[in-house]
Amino acid sequence: MERKPRSGAGSASSGQAAAESSAKVLLQVLAGRAADPPPIWLMRQAGRYLPEYRALRRKAGQFLDLCLTPELAVEATLQPIRRYGFDAAILFSDILVVPHALGQEVSFEEGRGPRLRPIQNAADLDCLSGEGQRGRLRPVYAAIEEVRRRLPGETTLIGFAGAPWTVATYMLEGGSSRQFRTAKEWMAVRPKEFARLMELLVDSTFDHLSAQVSAGAEALQIFDTWAGVLAAEDRRRWSLAPLSEIVARLKAAHPEVPVILFPRGTGEMYLEFACRSGADALSLDPTVSLEWARAELQPCVAVQGNLDPRTLADGGPQLDVAARRILDAFRAGPFIFNLGHGILPETKAEAFARLVQVVRG
Ligand code: CP3
Repeated sequence: MERKPRSGAGSASSGQAAAESSAKVLLQVLAGRAADPPPIWLMRQAGRYLPEYRALRRKAGQFLDLCLTPELAVEATLQPIRRYGFDAAILFSDILVVPHALGQEVSFEEGRGPRLRPIQNAADLDCLSGEGQRGRLRPVYAAIEEVRRRLPGETTLIGFAGAPWTVATYMLEGGSSRQFRTAKEWMAVRPKEFARLMELLVDSTFDHLSAQVSAGAEALQIFDTWAGVLAAEDRRRWSLAPLSEIVARLKAAHPEVPVILFPRGTGEMYLEFACRSGADALSLDPTVSLEWARAELQPCVAVQGNLDPRTLADGGPQLDVAARRILDAFRAGPFIFNLGHGILPETKAEAFARLVQVVRG
């Protein structure tokens, strides 16, 4: 299998050139260098485990209002940075602002997760349009500009979006799902309509990420949370291919901005994402073998991960053991300490203090 040469191992990419002059350790690692201690940030680092987030959430009322009111989104983005001094801030927003911007009805019910008015047929598809997207997402870009003004000089700002497949599951199922029956049915028996939806999502996801960079995002992460539920062939077609297209378009528009992909649950197919997607880094879920990832993935891309969020929530000495094992596996190459999926809401403050202590020594 063909391998993309590591940008840190010789040829100076523009990403590397940008990182050369940067004090930001996360950008240095994304350009292919090892750092000791490694940078750390945590998926879903803003959220319900923080009392100050819960207070802000009550003030906002609706979750989407929290995402689409710049002062509130800025505050939620900065909360975990103030408390723990992570090396990266991730914009406070959600992957479902894209369907909202395309014209689908989206809401979040306390304790029940997202609700969308499901796309049921071609006529529903006709009602979606990317035309108003930039305008509807203007508050997100305003929040990014303000976060950049207020972040400490050493902290990197990460923008993000959901992958087309993951976002399509919410649009077609009308919310969270376990079986993905409707989305898989569209894929199999309504291939034209499904392809149309995916094309729309590739365009709107690229546009949303590109606008985040123009507003000040310094790195991007794309979450394909549900890539792992697809059969291998479908996964190449509907996860790897659209993600590769988005990465190629981002690299053409913003060659200096590194891209991290999270193809969760894809096992050994992580190797194809490493070699073929054009991404600078892969975020590993907790099931990925450390030794395998060090030998197979880390020579091609930076790796990020992959502590089990359950282990963090449980805390105690097992947390130290698990975190050290990850550090030992990846410390010789480009590596960002993170979780293998989002923080669990019940995680206590002591656990974070303990983790940061182990990682930073
Ligand atoms: O701190 C951060 O990570 C930044 C903000 C962020 C949120 N969602 C805020 C949020 C990010 C990066 C996301 C990504 C996201 N959203 C994903 C991909 C990553 C993953 O976790 O797999 C997905 C699948 C979603 C969709 C989504 N949003 C769901 C399924 C839910 C309900 C479940 C839940 O965790 O509550 C949300 C709501 C949501 N997004 C919350 C937050 C803080 C909780 C809402 C609340 O305050 O009630």
